[in-house]
Amino acid sequence: MVRPRRLRRTPALRRLVADVRVSPADLVLPVFVKEGISEPAPISSMPGVVQHTRDSVRKAAAEAAAAGVGGLILFGIPVVKDARGSGADDPHGIVQLALADVVSEVGEDLVVMTDLCLDEYTDHGHCGLLTSSGEVDNDATLERYAAAAVAQARAGSQVVAPSGMMDGQVAAIRAALDADGFPDLPILAYSAKYASAFYGPFREAAECAPQFGDRSAYQQDAARPTAEGVREALLDVAEGADAVMVKPAMAYLDVVRAVGEAVDVPVAAYQVSGEYAMVEAAAAQGWVDRRRIVLETLTGIRRAGAGMVLTYWATEAAGWLAEG
Ligand code: PBG
Repeated sequence: MVRPRRLRRTPALRRLVADVRVSPADLVLPVFVKEGISEPAPISSMPGVVQHTRDSVRKAAAEAAAAGVGGLILFGIPVVKDARGSGADDPHGIVQLALADVVSEVGEDLVVMTDLCLDEYTDHGHCGLLTSSGEVDNDATLERYAAAAVAQARAGSQVVAPSGMMDGQVAAIRAALDADGFPDLPILAYSAKYASAFYGPFREAAECAPQFGDRSAYQQDAARPTAEGVREALLDVAEGADAVMVKPAMAYLDVVRAVGEAVDVPVAAYQVSGEYAMVEAAAAQGWVDRRRIVLETLTGIRRAGAGMVLTYWATEAAGWLAEG
């Protein structure tokens, strides 16, 4: 009889035939740093995650590095927001300041990335500049992204990660970086990014809920076929993306798989705030085994073909992985 169970019988057999591995080096920790606070501020919808102070973000970065985590990605939350998202390219803005701190702390031990968008910095909460009728103006926004990319590069970012889903954003950022003397700075493009309810807790974390409407006119529609995610990734690669991302992860693993097969650059997947919150909420009730479910989701994302996984559990999971 054909018996697939033969190789499942003992832990040693299972370990021998296991193919999909998650390594700390594959994980990227998203971190929030907020201007003007003196203590880390808990995020109620993401238990265990905080808005950091400039001091505490250094510590979090050092812990991630010590655990062997591959990278971190920084999000800044300024005190003052305005229509053009001025904080995004202010050389003295919170993300630029924290970035320089973090790079000096751990910049040789892990890769320090920056999320590049306007929504954390705009008073209306949208990812770009608005037209007079309240639509997001794609091409005017590109200039703001270019300026933010240069500001992040000058502050020491080691990878910029545009997440705003404007058409042409990768080409605009690449051109600006090249012109400012940063031809070697890689771009990790959030390429296939869906308009998702799974970002709910992030909007508390980054204080960036849109003040009207939603992001469906620029982020992708979940009901479109997988191939649209592939198309977005291919466009970004053609524009010069060095790596591409699919986001969220768990509800879009078909896109992760298809993008991985279509491109020859590294593929990342972002296990987003809502994915985190759901597991934490269920685990807090004792309804699921927290550690097993976290490792299972990370394994699933790797199995779908993502080389890198952005996850709020990065440091903790790296610790578990080191235990074996
Ligand atoms: C945009 C951005 C968002 C996330 C990462 N970058 C929010 C959005 O698009 O609404 C969401 C991440 C998460 O939910 O964990 N700057």
